[in-house]
Amino acid sequence: MNEVFTFADLEQPASLNPEGQKPARLAVIGHPVAHSKSPELHQPALDSHDIDARYIRLDLEPGQLTDAFARMRDLGFIGTNVTVPHKFEALSTCSDLDPAAQALGAVNTVLFSDDGSTLGFNTDGPGFVRAIREEFSVDVRDLKILIVGAGGGAGQALATQCAREGCEQLILVNRSLDKIMQLKERLTPFFETERLEGPGDRLQAYPIDSPDLAEVAGHCDLIVQTTSLGLKATDPAPLPRHCVQPHHLVYDTIYQPPQTRFLREAQASGARIANGLSLLLHQGALSFEYWFPGSQPLPSMKKAFGK
Ligand code: ATR
Repeated sequence: MNEVFTFADLEQPASLNPEGQKPARLAVIGHPVAHSKSPELHQPALDSHDIDARYIRLDLEPGQLTDAFARMRDLGFIGTNVTVPHKFEALSTCSDLDPAAQALGAVNTVLFSDDGSTLGFNTDGPGFVRAIREEFSVDVRDLKILIVGAGGGAGQALATQCAREGCEQLILVNRSLDKIMQLKERLTPFFETERLEGPGDRLQAYPIDSPDLAEVAGHCDLIVQTTSLGLKATDPAPLPRHCVQPHHLVYDTIYQPPQTRFLREAQASGARIANGLSLLLHQGALSFEYWFPGSQPLPSMKKAFGK
């Protein structure tokens, strides 16, 4: 059931909490938000921990976050997830930020703490590191990584995390070069160490149609697909087939459909592949662990998604 609440419902607790239902205590805030899978992820974890709380979808207009957070705190909400387009507004609405949220410039998890502060976290980057470890038994910090779609919201977040981890090499690839040139500038300080020859080698940016891409990709260990290409069955793959080789680990952040054309082609090339379901699960589990320290939400989340 994709029931969606709005700001008006926060002012009418009766509509938010119909009789016979558990009280709404957690939410995902977005605009639109009806498509969000977060309730399907978190409700089973709440139920398996015997927590008397309901996780709801909340559609807010830009500019409503400050008032909404205050109302939610009054209503006894524990926290909330934040998704597109509110991740940046959430950053400025929180009173305290964890280092990942600060570095990524975006908040996806909020905790209304007992002392009145509003804590902002970002679990997308750390969730990605856990997902890669689980899927391929490797650490992001040990890899040469190519991110295609690095100029988009998801791509920038994952590229920033890879840089924070100190990965061996990071290749930013995007259709429009201007977005990744800015990102490259922002990430350069993370690579100014003595590993390899210098930041110029460890951090590079290429347009998606660069003739050098196949050779550059050949030197990488992990290719991460973060464009929106693949959501539709008719979408082409974002990289030409010859860019993927048998030694590659290929991760597509899309999980619906479970296998994009890009993943199918990568598998046919002999590469090891994984889709974005593990990222969804791990970023969700990390959020849950911020709300309920010491909890173990991952098994029930995995079960709910058949993984
Ligand atoms: P966001 O809001 O996260 O930026 P988006 O605008 O859908 O999401 O774009 C996500 C990524 O998919 C971007 O890297 C985008 O490339 P541009 O920055 O050049 O727009 C990429 N993308 C979307 N459609 C694409 C296409 N047809 N070919 C290549 N890349 C594409």
